[in-house]
Amino acid sequence: MKILITGNMGYIGPSVVQQLRSSYPGSTLVGLDTGYFAHCLTNSEILPECRVDQQYFSDVRTIPAELLDGVDAIIHLAGISNDPMGNTFEKVTFDINHLASIELAKKARERGVSSFVFASSCSMYGSADDSPRNETSPLNPLTAYAKSKVYTERDLEAMADERFKVTSLRFSTACGMSERLRLDLVLNDFVTGAVTSKTITILSDGTPWRPLINIKDMARAIDWAMTRDSGNGGSFLAVNVGSDEWNYQVKDLAYAVSEVIPDVEISINKDAQPDKRSYRVNFDLFRRLAPDYQPQVDLITTIRELKEGLEAMKFGDENFRNSKFMRLKVLTHLREQGFLNEDLGWTGKNDMGTKLKN
Ligand SMILES: NC(=O)c1ccc[n+]([C@@H]2O[C@H](COP(=O)([O-])OP(=O)(O)OC[C@H]3O[C@@H](n4cnc5c(N)ncnc54)[C@H](O)[C@@H]3O)[C@@H](O)[C@H]2O)c1
Repeated sequence: MKILITGNMGYIGPSVVQQLRSSYPGSTLVGLDTGYFAHCLTNSEILPECRVDQQYFSDVRTIPAELLDGVDAIIHLAGISNDPMGNTFEKVTFDINHLASIELAKKARERGVSSFVFASSCSMYGSADDSPRNETSPLNPLTAYAKSKVYTERDLEAMADERFKVTSLRFSTACGMSERLRLDLVLNDFVTGAVTSKTITILSDGTPWRPLINIKDMARAIDWAMTRDSGNGGSFLAVNVGSDEWNYQVKDLAYAVSEVIPDVEISINKDAQPDKRSYRVNFDLFRRLAPDYQPQVDLITTIRELKEGLEAMKFGDENFRNSKFMRLKVLTHLREQGFLNEDLGWTGKNDMGTKLKN
């Protein structure tokens, strides 16, 4: 089997590569990424890309169709991956997340790729009352990022058939330690605050609901989606990925962190405007279709791994919300220094002496 993983040089990618390498040792793994965050490594023993057979530094907006020859499956992770980046680079977010994804899927279908797995997001449910959303619930995307996922899913559905199986995994918010860590994710932020300054600062009033999933469990879901039979879910499937136990209110995540890391002060912003991005999610369909691939890592283990990972990095930056582990900060910096143009393409004419501040 030849598997192309786009966006493999981000936060989730290294876990996905390790999962697929272990499940399909004889397969050929090909990575493709433009490398925005290539330098944002943690404490990795080796460059994570050494685990793939081939690595392309390429933009998904301009993938040559020949690159897809002989590919059996595509795991499509590449994209602008959160709301702050989507708000700042709105047009580019639609270009990369929506248009380029659909172009890639078209080329893939023409070249005989049989399985296409898309990294979608539960954020497409937007604001919802307390009843958990299932796959038939109305979508309410509140941001450019969430809208880009909705449009892509819609257009992918129209392309799927027996020869081209599409699985759109509506992931919960990711968390956990990675060789390319992100600290702009709620649990990772709380653990880092606790480790660096014994403080957890909740920017909302703490009540919003947020389903979470460990990146290792995301990788296992991707493994399942790639090889699932069309009889199990149909030629197009959009499914929520996570678990009922991991529907948390943000304040409960903070309390869980303070169980693992004692003497932490939790500050809740009681005057915060209500955070509209609050939703609970129903995972019955995923449980029914993928009983052997259900999330396994628990919250306390995830918090411990993050804490130990940060300690191993000797990470002590109290000002981590300005560090290179924040995706928007990195893109903004690369733009300001002239490394990226306004379409977030590499300019190739930079002063390479300029260093990104940690
Ligand atoms: N992290 C989460 O909570 C979460 C939840 C749901 C869905 N997802 C989705 O999963 C995917 C991966 O998320 P992540 O957390 O690893 O994000 P990330 O930002 O760490 O990684 C995304 C990768 O895509 C690459 N990329 C971006 N634009 C590209 C382009 N034009 N051409 C080639 N490569 C490009 C980046 O360089 C980066 O390595 C994203 O599509 C994201 O929307 C993430």
